[in-house]
Amino acid sequence: MPADSTVNFNVLHRTCKLVVLLCFLHISVTLIFYVRSLDIRFAFVQNQQSNTPADVRSTNLTTKVTLKDILTPKGPVTAAQQEEAKDEVQVKVEESPKKLEKCPETSPLLVGPLRVEFSSPVSLEQTRKENPNVEAGGRFRPGDCEALQKVALIIPFRNRDEHLKYWLYYLHPILQRQQLDYGVYVINQDGDEIFNRAKLLNVGYAEALKEYDYDCFVFSDVDLIPMDDRNTYKCFSQPRHLSVSMDKFGFRLPYNQYFGGVSSMSKQQYLKINGFPNNYWGWGGEDDDIYNRVASKGMSISRPDGTVGKCRMIRHDRDKQNEPNPQRFDRIAHTRETMHKDGINSLSYKVMKIEKEPLYTKITVDVGKP
Ligand code: BGC
Repeated sequence: MPADSTVNFNVLHRTCKLVVLLCFLHISVTLIFYVRSLDIRFAFVQNQQSNTPADVRSTNLTTKVTLKDILTPKGPVTAAQQEEAKDEVQVKVEESPKKLEKCPETSPLLVGPLRVEFSSPVSLEQTRKENPNVEAGGRFRPGDCEALQKVALIIPFRNRDEHLKYWLYYLHPILQRQQLDYGVYVINQDGDEIFNRAKLLNVGYAEALKEYDYDCFVFSDVDLIPMDDRNTYKCFSQPRHLSVSMDKFGFRLPYNQYFGGVSSMSKQQYLKINGFPNNYWGWGGEDDDIYNRVASKGMSISRPDGTVGKCRMIRHDRDKQNEPNPQRFDRIAHTRETMHKDGINSLSYKVMKIEKEPLYTKITVDVGKP
C-alpha cells in the first residue's frame, strides 16, 4: 500500500471515531435532559392531584413550594418542613377573607304575599333539607353580602312542638330572603309550674347575647306566622310591633296599644325599658306592661301597614298552666313604679339544658314559680 493512502486511512479512521464519540455524547446529554424533564412533569402531576378542591389553597401551595425550592438549598424535605409549609398556607388563606359589601336596605330577594296554611303536617327533616344554608342552632348569615343587623329570634315555649315545626318551616326561608344575620332561640320553660312568657323572653335576651353580639331582638310567639316577607323581622328606630293584622282579630289591631304576638327591639331600646317584667305568671298583661314601659320612656311604636303586617295564628286550645292572670290589671296600672326594679336588672333563672338542634337552639330553663 502506498504511504499516502495509509495516512488517508488513518485520518478517516480518527474522524470516524470522533464522530461516533460526538454522537454518543449527544445521545447521552439528550437522555439526561429527557429523564430530568420526566421527573419535573411527574412532580407537577403529583402536586396537582394532592391539591384540595379550593382554588385559592392550591395556588398558594404551588407558589409556596416553588419559592422554597428557589430560596433553600436542594435536598429531601422533612416531615417537619412539610407541616411548616402547610401552616404557612393556612395562615395565608385566613389572612385574606373575602370582604363582603353591605346588604341593601331592602332585600332584592323578597317576594311579597305568602300562602300560609296548617292543614298538612310538616317535618323537621323536610325543613332541614329545604334550608341547607341554616347552620346548627338555627344560625344563618347571607353568603354574598354583610347583613345590616344581627338578629336573635326569641320564642317562649312549652309543649308546642307541632307549632314550632310550622314556625321553622315558614320562617327560615323568609328570614334568609330578608338577608339577616340571625339565630333562633327557643326558650323552653322547665317543669309544669304556671307559664311566664315575659320572663322567658328576658332569659332569651340574656342567653342569646352570651353566644353572639346580637344588636336586635325579635320576640315571637311560636304560633304566629307572617303572611308577607316584606314584614322584615328586624329593628327600627322605635320599638316595632310586627304582628299588626292577625287573622284571629279579623286582620286588624284589637286596640291601639296592643303590643302582643311578635315585636322587635334593639339592644338599646330593650335596655332603656329595663327589659320585660318577670312577675306576670299566667296568660295576659305582660305585653301591655311592655307597651307601658316603652311609652313611659318617650318612645313610640313603629308598625308595618295592615297588608304587609298580616299574619296567621295556629289555632289551639288554651295551654294547661297558662290560665288568665287575675293580677294583670293591677300590675299594668303600676308599670311606671315597678319597671325600674323589675326587669333585666333583677332577672334570675337556672339553665337546665342547652340543645343545638339543626334548625334552632333550645334552652330549657327553670324560671321558678310565683
Ligand atoms: C291582654 C293581652 C293580650 C290581649 C289580646 C289583653 O287583654 O292583657 O295580654 O295580648 O288582650 O288578646
